[in-house]
Amino acid sequence: MNRSTFIGIDLGTSAVKLLLLDQQGTILNTVSREHPMYFPHPGWSEQDPADWWTAVQDGVKALLTGFEAAKVAGIGVGGQMHGLVTLDANDEIIRNAILWNDGRTAEETAWLNTVIGRDKLSALTANIAFAGFTAPKLLWMQKHEPENFARIAKIMLPKDYINYKLTGVHSCDFSDASGMLLLDVEHKRWSKEMLDVCGVSESQMPQLFESYEVIGTLRPEISAALGLSTDVKVIAGAGDNAAAAVGTGTVGGGACNISLGTSGTIFISSDRFGVDPGNALHAFAHADGNYHLMGCMLSAASCNKWLCEEILKTTDYVAEQADITDDRLGNNRVFFLPYLMGERSPINDTDARGTFIGLSMDTTRADMVQAVLEGVAFAIRDSFEVAKSIGICVERSKLCGGGAKSPLWRRIMANVLNIPLELPQTEEGPGYGAAMLAMVGCGEYDSAADCAAALARTTETIEPDPEISARYEAQYQKFRKIYPSVRNLFKEIK
Ligand code: XUL
Repeated sequence: MNRSTFIGIDLGTSAVKLLLLDQQGTILNTVSREHPMYFPHPGWSEQDPADWWTAVQDGVKALLTGFEAAKVAGIGVGGQMHGLVTLDANDEIIRNAILWNDGRTAEETAWLNTVIGRDKLSALTANIAFAGFTAPKLLWMQKHEPENFARIAKIMLPKDYINYKLTGVHSCDFSDASGMLLLDVEHKRWSKEMLDVCGVSESQMPQLFESYEVIGTLRPEISAALGLSTDVKVIAGAGDNAAAAVGTGTVGGGACNISLGTSGTIFISSDRFGVDPGNALHAFAHADGNYHLMGCMLSAASCNKWLCEEILKTTDYVAEQADITDDRLGNNRVFFLPYLMGERSPINDTDARGTFIGLSMDTTRADMVQAVLEGVAFAIRDSFEVAKSIGICVERSKLCGGGAKSPLWRRIMANVLNIPLELPQTEEGPGYGAAMLAMVGCGEYDSAADCAAALARTTETIEPDPEISARYEAQYQKFRKIYPSVRNLFKEIK
């Protein structure tokens, strides 16, 4: 049997998205399975890893319906980053996973950044502490749930739990491990000092791999349940942003990918290790074997989802955007701070919250929808400006994620950043990239870069319009003044 198809899985925050790819990079089928999210306190965010696993199993079965399961050669998973998954000595889940957008660790984050100190953290891990990172969550668990902490036999990230269930191997790849604040990113090894700071040992950590390396094959009972051969190879996979970057061809030096998913990220690929001296951008390993810098905002497409579904009680996003014509772009008097879950890059403030400002009696529903789309674009621009300030000049970028489906939002993004944005052939960035990494692991290509050169294609380029981008330049200068003016209030009203 010629093994010629590959499964890519994106373990996202709202859903698991799966796709089946053939050797030519054609997507044969896609399937999506939603899973619940829990907010046990304001600003906290959790999921049950068992729900992910159920969604993956159901999803794989649905994905292969009507296709020859025996043709599948490899599986790759890209997943939401930073989430703390803890397993006991029997590999049972100890508690719900604490997710990347959970803000409960403000105290632990501040302690790491001041007592251990930003300079030392940056020297050990290339990064400082942010509330969503994994290390502060371990400190939180040690303090608030000592009985759970004492039971930890393995510390994992979300997609690594899926890989463990598939293969029985406790693994982690360098791109995802970078977001734990436990990895010496430059030298690609666990930082003994940081493990000590968090009260854990190397035996509790998973084994490290490059994203495209094979970690094992399917457990017999899993292959039987999913109808797959036992010698299907599972690769280490990647954090969702690194996987999406591979999927959109953002590999090697100087390429950029922007993702408008639940989170919003700007991902700048590099062929050498480098750190943002102000540590506003994360310095992480890339799934292509190199490195990248990344700014991550915590609520991007989720701001639009919140406004439409929770407030306006509609799922017809297209209708909400229909009245927002070109003449209105850059002329809105309403502004929105998109900090619905606090914010990571570049302001690092768990207390920040969403804010509309500039409302008047003639403000329309469309003005508010527009302000939300623009607020996200301006917040991405904040990280773009940090990159510029350290000499990285992004001249064009790919744009992926659910938000990229909106022609209006694409136009706003291109004009706020004033660069051309290229749309990949699929907005399923992480799943596509994970399947490509599986192709590399199965020997179809020598490297992620070769695979990207062969398969990652763009369909359309959105060019900025000089008049609109000039108007947005003036608007952005106003936007930047809003957060510093209200920053202190957020601490009082929380
Ligand atoms: C990146 C980050 C988010 C999640 C979302 O640092 O926290 O992009 O990976 O899935």
